[in-house]
Amino acid sequence: MSAHVEIAVQGAVQTVRLNRAEKKNALTGEMYKTLAEALRASDADDGIAVTVILGQPGIFCAGNDVMDFLAASHGGSALHGFTFLQALAEREKPLIAAVDGPAVGIGTTLMLHCDLVFASPRAVFQTPFVNLGLIPEAASSLIGPMLMGHPRAFELLVMGEPFTAERAREAGFVNHVVPPEALESTALTAAQALAAKPREAVRIARRLLKGDPAPIKNRMMHEGTLFLQRIESKEAIAAFEAFLHKTPKAE
Ligand code: COA
Repeated sequence: MSAHVEIAVQGAVQTVRLNRAEKKNALTGEMYKTLAEALRASDADDGIAVTVILGQPGIFCAGNDVMDFLAASHGGSALHGFTFLQALAEREKPLIAAVDGPAVGIGTTLMLHCDLVFASPRAVFQTPFVNLGLIPEAASSLIGPMLMGHPRAFELLVMGEPFTAERAREAGFVNHVVPPEALESTALTAAQALAAKPREAVRIARRLLKGDPAPIKNRMMHEGTLFLQRIESKEAIAAFEAFLHKTPKAE
């Protein structure tokens, strides 16, 4: 269990809070494993109806820890993000996210697997995969264009353009823009409303809306193979080192 993820249960609502603010909630292997276990545990627990994913005030998640990317690029460690992605693809119960501040990389693509997303006006969604020499993950290359059309998905996933909360709402992956002070209570109220509904009907309806998980899982695996190739590329290693050494980007 990672100390950087806080898991709590209130009634039938599980909350999962990222708690590594000093590193902008960048996700480590231990955090991914804890997140995956939390999702699987709540899916299997008849007492839990819904999970809410929370960050810290002013920061949702800076994506994968770049140090771990660099270690993986030198064959130093496995990436556990895929374990988390698989848990997302296999998820049966609703997932809600409340986003305040930056949501980078998987911090954004995670939204494509949520059922309700609330974001404050301080939220900024960004997927700089290509800028880092990488490629989109989390089946975002499949779900992104289906959800928002190719041009907007290209802007987000290839150009790495930041999307404000309002832009993300227009693009279809944020439900409501909520002031920061009301963000978490709004997400929790929605979770409680969901938890009060007939659980099996919610589960079946969600599965119908999400569709067959097989193409999602297949795309994640395909992306994963390419991602691991890219992570060892000179382009990627140079980008990771530039980020970690705070080297300004060439104009
Ligand atoms: N991996 C590892 N460390 C990270 C990180 C990441 N993904 N994101 C931020 N950090 C660290 C910084 O290195 C810095 O560490 P330090 O205090 O030891 O120097 C600390 O968190 C604060 O980050 P900083 O960049 O100074 O904060 P900021 O408020 O100026 O910017 C972000 C916040 C989230 C916009 C910026 O950190 C960022 O863009 N991170 C994303 C990195 C990324 O590309 N992730 C991978 C996506 S695929």
